[in-house]
Amino acid sequence: MTHTTIPVGGERPYDVLVGRDLLAALPPLLPGAAQVAVLYAGPLKDYATRVADALAGAGTAPLPLELPDAEAGKNVEVAARCWDALGAANFTRTDAVVGVGGGAVTDVAGFVAACWLRGVRVVQVPTSLLGMVDAAVGGKTGVNIAAGKNLVGAFHPPAGVLCDLSTLDTLPPVDLVAGLAEVVKCGFIADPAILDLIERDGAAALQELIERSVRVKARVVSEDLRESGLREILNYGHTLGHAIEKHEGYAWRHGHAISVGLVFAAALGRHSGRLAPHIADRHRNVLTALGLPVRYPAEAWPDLRAAMRVDKKARGATLRFVVLDDLARPAILESPSDELLEAAYAEVAS
Ligand SMILES: NC(=O)c1ccc[n+]([C@@H]2O[C@H](COP(=O)([O-])OP(=O)(O)OC[C@H]3O[C@@H](n4cnc5c(N)ncnc54)[C@H](O)[C@@H]3O)[C@@H](O)[C@H]2O)c1
Repeated sequence: MTHTTIPVGGERPYDVLVGRDLLAALPPLLPGAAQVAVLYAGPLKDYATRVADALAGAGTAPLPLELPDAEAGKNVEVAARCWDALGAANFTRTDAVVGVGGGAVTDVAGFVAACWLRGVRVVQVPTSLLGMVDAAVGGKTGVNIAAGKNLVGAFHPPAGVLCDLSTLDTLPPVDLVAGLAEVVKCGFIADPAILDLIERDGAAALQELIERSVRVKARVVSEDLRESGLREILNYGHTLGHAIEKHEGYAWRHGHAISVGLVFAAALGRHSGRLAPHIADRHRNVLTALGLPVRYPAEAWPDLRAAMRVDKKARGATLRFVVLDDLARPAILESPSDELLEAAYAEVAS
């Protein structure tokens, strides 16, 4: 078992392990658990069986629970079915949950754990790139409801996160590429060495890209679990990105929408006179080189503009955007004029 350990601080510190063959590290993360529910979706069935075997081998009874895949499993009804299963198995306060899968599964697994007996331990085993660098780290959990995505949830930091790189071997290439948008974001907001690596080798140095991105997220959430300040910088590119996801009825991958959103945010920085043009251009170049989209239809603008008004980062009627003053120097742009927004959108409009 060779891996890198990245600590996440805060009230309840934990480690993110990045490497291969990490399952031996799982049982020690849950001392005293007699039973552990293993939540997974169909594509991860084989790996979830290995997770269950690792628990059983250490004397802990696994309770495998298969969920509907992706967003279909991320809702209150599915969470309630899990709670029923925990109830039927007499899960106690010292028992625990493991989430094995992409961000949808780890989000719902975290939420199930956050609510069961008002909070039991969860270990996240993300198997998508987005899950590893974003969803499984930081303690945000939740489900979708009819009124919108991620509207119901809880902050519930995990007891540990295991990023087993061998799981990425089966991840569809399109999902791997989509996850790279968050990696690029981390490069721009905090760690430009990520950009250098991608410009040199694409995604070849995947382990280092993951480790660096996890470190960025770990640093931010260690200081600001509840998104009262610093954590907002993780939303770079997300204001337009979320509006695109909504416009697409969530049929676009998150990373694709964020990619367009990053180019838009860079353009906002440039048009407001804060960001040097060559750094703004670098956004488009890096994302394009990875095969990520950087354009969106011009005629969608009125819808996107309206959707951004109700984005989570809008406080009251004020629109807020994360922009860059320079590489690794994020800042907040409040209430940009319509002219500025339109000029920035013109740079992504097709
Ligand atoms: N909690 C947070 O802070 C946070 C942050 C970002 C995103 N999210 C959430 O994450 C979700 C998106 O995550 P995602 O991009 O991982 O999508 P996803 O969970 O829907 O997974 C995408 C697809 O890939 C499959 N998959 C995952 N790993 C695989 C593997 N190793 N091999 C084969 N197939 C695999 C999944 O089963 C699914 O079909 C969204 O619900 C989003 O809201 C949460």
